[in-house]
Formats: sequence, structure tokens, C-alpha cells
Amino acid sequence: MFCIALIVILNLWAPLTNGIKIHLEPGNPMVNGSVYMIVTDVTNIRSFNWYRGEAMASNQILNYITNLPPVHGDKYINNSVAFANGTLFIPNLQKDYAGIYTVQIQTISGSEQANVTLTVSDPATDQGGLSAGAIIGIVFSVLAVVLSVAGAVFYVLKKKKSNRNEPPQNLDAYETVKA
Ligand SMILES: *[C@@H]1O[C@H](CO)[C@@H](O)[C@H](O)[C@H]1NC(C)=O
Ligand SMILES: *[C@@H]1O[C@H](CO)[C@@H](O)[C@H](O)[C@H]1NC(C)=O
Ligand SMILES: *[C@@H]1O[C@H](CO)[C@@H](O)[C@H](O)[C@H]1NC(C)=O
Ligand SMILES: *[C@@H]1O[C@H](CO)[C@@H](O)[C@H](O)[C@H]1NC(C)=O
Repeated sequence: MFCIALIVILNLWAPLTNGIKIHLEPGNPMVNGSVYMIVTDVTNIRSFNWYRGEAMASNQILNYITNLPPVHGDKYINNSVAFANGTLFIPNLQKDYAGIYTVQIQTISGSEQANVTLTVSDPATDQGGLSAGAIIGIVFSVLAVVLSVAGAVFYVLKKKKSNRNEPPQNLDAYETVKA
């Protein structure tokens, strides 16, 4: 009986806790670019809060109540804007904006929450990241050149040496004499 009650409660509760999702647009935000944090699968919004990190007062970016001007929190991000559908827009992205963002929404049927991890890519430093692979490539190329030069030198020296040892007939002659 208790189990059934628990299952019923969990089933009622699950949509309230797992229903909404955050979709980033664009998917790969860049430094100096902007991002829309779009809340999907939500209807009948009464109010919402956006946070940097966990949903706690000191992390609040802003609070939005339908038909009222948004209230900025301690972690307000310059020029960020909220829309009635829950979306948060952040312009002029900086590298240190990266991290977890949480939205908490009050709808007519309850409270829902979701988070998303924002990464902000920087073409300048990300190129540096790519060059780790480039460095390995360069090391291998240099190694290949060194090996082929060493191989060529070895071949030339060996050829010279065998030329110097010629004619082998002398050796045969010597050997014959010795015998
Ligand atoms: C971002 O903007 C700043 C200031 O305009 C500029 O110095 C920097 O190079 C820009 N970075 C990128 C990756 O566009
Ligand atoms: C919410 O509104 C913003 C701004 O108008 C829009 O970009 C976004 O697509 C909307 N989100 C949904 C889920 O419709
Ligand atoms: C983000 O959401 C996941 C899954 O719902 C949860 O496990 C995690 O604790 C959340 N992170 C934060 C910082 O709230
Ligand atoms: C936000 O804007 C103010 C005023 O323009 C500026 O002084 C401050 O440095 C900005 N903060 C960030 C994190 O960009």
C-alpha cells in the first residue's frame, strides 16, 4: 500500500522535476558572441529565477515575474535579458562566463528546475589548444627528417667504407696467400 502510494507520488513529482530542459543557441558560443539559454517543455510560467551555479539566493542572476520588470540579483550579468518564455539572453560573452547555469520556474502546476553547462570558446586560445596536436605532428615530422638524414648519412658512409675496402679481390688474394 505504502509502495503504491510512493510510486504514485513519484510519478506525479517526476514531471515537475525532470520536465524542463535548457537548450543553448548557438550550441558553441564564442567569446564576444552571445547565447540564448532557451527553456523548453515549459508552459504556463508565472515566474522564474536564473542562477549561476546552484539555485541559491547569492547566485541569482535575475528574477522574472510575468508583467513586472525583471529584478537583478547578486550575480547579474551585464546586459543579460530574460524573456517571458523563460529564455535568458547573454550578450558579449566572456571566457569566465563559462560554468553551470540553473533556471527555476514556477508554473501554475508547480516548480521546475534545470541546469546547463555553458562553455565559451575563444578562437585565439583554442587555437593554442589545437596546437598540442600540431606540436605532436611537428615533433614527428622533425623526427622523420632527422631519421631520413641519418639514414642517408649512414648509407653514404657505408658506401664510402665499402668502396675503400675494395677491391675485395685483394682480400681473396691475401686469403689465398695466407692459405
Ligand atoms: C573580443 O573583444 C575584445 C574587445 O573588443 C577584443 O580585444 C578581443 O580580441 C575579442 N576576442 C575575440 C575572440 O573576438
Ligand atoms: C523564447 O523567446 C526567445 C526570444 O523571443 C526566443 O529566441 C526563443 O526561441 C523562445 N523560446 C521558445 C522555446 O520558444
Ligand atoms: C544540475 O542538474 C543535475 C541533474 O538534474 C543535478 O544532478 C545537479 O546537481 C545540478 N547541478 C547544480 C549545480 O545544480
Ligand atoms: C558591467 O558593466 C559595468 C558598467 O559598464 C562595468 O564597469 C563592469 O566592468 C561590467 N562587468 C563585467 C563583468 O563585464
